[in-house]
Amino acid sequence: MAKHGEDFRTIWLAPEDPGVVQIIDQRLLPHEYRVHDLRSWEDGLIAISDMYVRGAPLIGATAAWSLYLAARAGGAGEIRTAAAALLESRPTAVNLRWAVERILAIVDRDEAMSDLVEKMRADAQAICDEDVEISRGIGTHGLALLEDIAARKNGATVNILTHCNAGALATINWGTATAPIYFAHQRGIDVHVWVDETRPRNQGSQLTAWELAANGVPHTLIVDNAGGHLMQHGDVDIVITGTDRTTRCGDVANKIGTYLKALAATDNDIPFYVALPSTTIDWHCRDGLTEIPIEQRDPAEVRDIYGMHDGKPVHVCTTANDTPISNYAFDVTPARLVTGLITERGICKASEAGLLGLFPEMDKS
Ligand code: MRU
Repeated sequence: MAKHGEDFRTIWLAPEDPGVVQIIDQRLLPHEYRVHDLRSWEDGLIAISDMYVRGAPLIGATAAWSLYLAARAGGAGEIRTAAAALLESRPTAVNLRWAVERILAIVDRDEAMSDLVEKMRADAQAICDEDVEISRGIGTHGLALLEDIAARKNGATVNILTHCNAGALATINWGTATAPIYFAHQRGIDVHVWVDETRPRNQGSQLTAWELAANGVPHTLIVDNAGGHLMQHGDVDIVITGTDRTTRCGDVANKIGTYLKALAATDNDIPFYVALPSTTIDWHCRDGLTEIPIEQRDPAEVRDIYGMHDGKPVHVCTTANDTPISNYAFDVTPARLVTGLITERGICKASEAGLLGLFPEMDKS
């Protein structure tokens, strides 16, 4: 499978075996590129929970392929069992619920259908193909923002800061926050990306830096706390992040630390944009701070750090053994701190009117 570019994919059906879904084991990047086989829905559940795959759109796609494997194993009953377990795996990324509900709707229509497995395969594949088109749409609309800045700077470098990995590795290809960057780079616009390390799992240093390098995009890794300083010194033209769940009113849940970047951007009049696939909008949710479930993960993710030593992958404990730790994985940036939402249908204000302007079919009033 290609490691970048047009043919890159993060998940696919094994060409030689319809009983195997293949993924890139992202836990091992950037030190090792290993393809991992999912042979059961339980394998898919582990891949999501233990973050072999991560990123809201890819979590949704992996759930869809896991339900396909469940259909192969035991038909509608197995699908329902798998769906219930998958929905419990990671609570914040709404793409998980979106994908599971979409697949279950097929089963609900006629669970006795003879071609259930084929229907599951076709819809899991469709979710992936649609996701690539969604990323393209976000890339195209976000590109205009970068072109404007480049024009304003007479072609000087456009400096973009991003947090976590909302890249090709978090989707099927191209990413959300990275899609405009890749398209700008492809068109010869001089871009440079400040990549937040993104503790505790280092999605920035281990994933975003890896894929930007693979695509030849200039970038610099920074610690999470450096962004505000760079903004104060005029070294950041725009911030673009992803999101795991955005409410119908424009409140944005994303990787822990995103809210602090939004505060620094607002304090320094730097545009703060969120790349938002429609599959990540929670139309049932209005107030992000009180309604979006925030995942808390294993304290060991904070205590230990993963890396290579003498050519071997190691985990190093960085704290005293008895240090109490809490590990919030996401936070919520209120709509008032978001300059705009970059969707596959265009860019809008982070507001109900803004989103309904682009998605009028979701207006149930
Ligand atoms: O914990 P992760 O790695 O799944 O968190 C991922 C993020 O926060 C991404 O920014 C978000 O899922 C958007 S991915 C297009």
